[in-house]
Formats: sequence, C-alpha cells, structure tokens
Amino acid sequence: MAKIPINIDGTALEVEQGQTILEICQANGIEILTMCHMKGLGDVGACRLCLVEIEGINKLLPACTTKVAANQVIKTKTEKIKKYQKITTELLFAVCVSNGKCELQDLGYKVGMTHVRFPYLFPQCEVDTSHPWYVMDHNRCITCTRCVRVCSQVEGSYNWGVKNRGVSSRIISDFNTPWGESTTCTACSKCVHSCPTGAIWPKAIVQGQLTKSPQMIADLVERRKMNL
Ligand code: FES
Repeated sequence: MAKIPINIDGTALEVEQGQTILEICQANGIEILTMCHMKGLGDVGACRLCLVEIEGINKLLPACTTKVAANQVIKTKTEKIKKYQKITTELLFAVCVSNGKCELQDLGYKVGMTHVRFPYLFPQCEVDTSHPWYVMDHNRCITCTRCVRVCSQVEGSYNWGVKNRGVSSRIISDFNTPWGESTTCTACSKCVHSCPTGAIWPKAIVQGQLTKSPQMIADLVERRKMNL
C-alpha cells in the first residue's frame, strides 16, 4: 500500500493510504476520545466524540470515518475540539444515567465534566424484560449502535435495528417486537459486552456488579480472520 505524508499535532508521519485518522492515531499513541467506535466493528460516526480539525476544512470531522489524504495537517487537541467533546459528553449524559460501570462515566472524567448544562431528558422509555436472560433499558441507551453492529457484523443475527431519527431514535428487536419474542436473537451476549452504558445487561447479575469484556469482540473478529 502506498505511503503518504501527513502531520498530526505537529508530528510528521508517513502512513498508509486508505487508513482512517483514528486508526493512525491509535497506532501512533495519539489519544482520540471515542464512544460509538468499537474495535472489530465497522464505524458509523454516530457519537461525534472523535472530532478532529483538518487544515483547510472549515468543519470538524470524525476521525473514525475520515480517511487520511496526502499532506493533511490534522489537529486532535485544540480548544475547539475540547469544547465540542465536553458538550457531546454532557448531551450523552442527559439521556443516560451512569451506573459506575459505564464507559460514559469514564468519558465524563476524561473531558473534565463537572456537571451537565443541558436539561436531563429522561424520556420515560420502555424497559424490555421479555428476554429470558437479558434486559434492555432504553432509558440508558445513547444509540451508539454498537449492539446493532455487533449483532449483524459479528454474530450475523440482525436482531437489533434502529427506528426513527434524532432524539426519537430507538434500538429495536426484530420488527419492533419484544426482545423475548425475537426469532433472530441467538442469546450470544455480544450486545451485552459491546454496550458502553448500562442499557443491556444479563438478568442473572446485579447491574452494578456487571463486568463487560468489550475486547472479547475484537479478539473474536481477529480469531475468525485467522481461520479464514
Ligand atoms: S467514535 Fe467517531 S463518531 Fe463516534
């Protein structure tokens, strides 16, 4: 693959064409905040946390879905980026109550969030307890769609989907039927491990004691590639 020169935060790099800015940053130890990104899954640019500034482009772009181009000058830690990261994190908090085992809560600490300036929405969503083993609490869902992508791209079940847009977006099971009635769910628990908040959890474990293993998804994808 052809190498191209770019500059990130003042450091000149020679990188492979076709890579995303996020891939390059992660490979070079440059921290980029993410939420909807998950190693092993295709990126959709849903959360807008990984925004970067590129010289000559007058808007911030998501690092996870933006591929590098030759001679790009990229900045990852400007005051503008930090401001947007804080706003985005606060907006995510405005819909999800963190439970102490939550990537969202870790993110709040990272961006230096002390309070939420936006009104909490608490949209009074349904808690779907119909599945024999798992619970889906839509009140804690930030619609990052990790569960949707892990279910389709890794498990191949296509149980989860998204209905509506914007603030009305909801994760749905099959054709918007109770999860327990799903004809596609294999009860594999991959959605449980990929959920960054407390929205999906197993009934057998008290939610506060749940330990998730998001790395399990990436390892699984790698192992499958090796077997191809
Ligand atoms: S991690 Fe890039 S938009 Fe969410």
